[in-house]
Amino acid sequence: MMTSRPAPPAPAIRAEGLVKRFGAKQALAGVDLEAPRGTVLGVLGPNGAGKTTTVRILTTLMRPDAGRAEVAGRDVLADPEGVREHLGLSGQYAAVDEKLTGRENLYLVARLYGMGRRAARRRADRLLGEFRLEEAADRPSGTFSGGMRRRLDLAGALVARPEVVVLDEPTTGLDPRGRADTWKAVRDLVGEGTTVLLTTQYLEEADQLADSIAVIDRGRVIARGSAAQLKARIGGERLTLTVADPRAVAPVGELLDSLGPHRCDHDPRTGRFTVAVEHGAHSLEYALSLLRGWGVTVRDVELAPPTLDDVFLELTGGAPPPGPVPAEPDAAAALTTGSRA
Ligand SMILES: Nc1ncnc2c1ncn2[C@@H]1O[C@H](COP(=O)(O)OP(=O)(O)O)[C@@H](O)[C@H]1O
Ligand SMILES: [Mg+2]
Repeated sequence: MMTSRPAPPAPAIRAEGLVKRFGAKQALAGVDLEAPRGTVLGVLGPNGAGKTTTVRILTTLMRPDAGRAEVAGRDVLADPEGVREHLGLSGQYAAVDEKLTGRENLYLVARLYGMGRRAARRRADRLLGEFRLEEAADRPSGTFSGGMRRRLDLAGALVARPEVVVLDEPTTGLDPRGRADTWKAVRDLVGEGTTVLLTTQYLEEADQLADSIAVIDRGRVIARGSAAQLKARIGGERLTLTVADPRAVAPVGELLDSLGPHRCDHDPRTGRFTVAVEHGAHSLEYALSLLRGWGVTVRDVELAPPTLDDVFLELTGGAPPPGPVPAEPDAAAALTTGSRA
């Protein structure tokens, strides 16, 4: 007699063939996603790619024109309430009541989820601490900075320790410290067994947090895999060298091409060469020592992790559309981390 193996557990998030149009605009053209329980799925894409539309469908805030999705084992169309019961949502549009203080906002969410008064107070205090909001706890959240509001919004999504948490660009517009807090919160959540879907415009963020990544562009998934698989396709760090002497262009190009499987790019206007390298520091040292031996003067050199732009150049042959405007002035630092000037 054959003994049947138990079926693998259903993924915490599964979407198949999601399609959504807004008038003539096709926001989603058939999106498939899957996240096993207890993992982080990163949905990486530029502005307008369809990230928020996908999030809205998965969180039952919007119906797809076609396709289906399940979250925490419940169908988003057939059982939206069941989905919402197991879901924490935070994002660009999630609401924070401006008249209430930070503490009151979190307390209210906890009570809405059915916690007793004491448990709700404890949970609110704990989250205020985790997100460095203690000082602001007793101020109306309408007076918060953009970064503080984002942190409060995120804390709100975590109040009920939901089975699945969906974060729509949780760090866009956050300063580096707010970003680090968010990353830690996501890691803690996953450590407790929560499944997280996170959208982002930052390759580095997907790389840091996601077990698997879906790259989305114009409503389609154009690549998927682990960060390591994605990097194998797009190459590792970007080595950028600028040489002043036009006679050096040919030999420098050959040298950089020889560093690995990726061909270098040369911008004749700026004299800048760029190449994807697997062993950044080693390649850099090797190239510089050879060039020094040849008497070639290197004006400028840089080693940087690949950015979303690099992913798009590699996968589609074109750069993504321009990114978002920072939500607050100090966000500029976060937005330029890891990108080449
Ligand atoms: N309510 C809407 N009405 C019309 N167009 C929309 C609406 N929501 C989104 N879109 C369009 O659909 C595309 C995908 O948008 P969105 O899902 O918000 O992308 P992302 O979150 O990745 O920036 C964009 O071109 C956007 O302009
Ligand atoms: Mg969006």
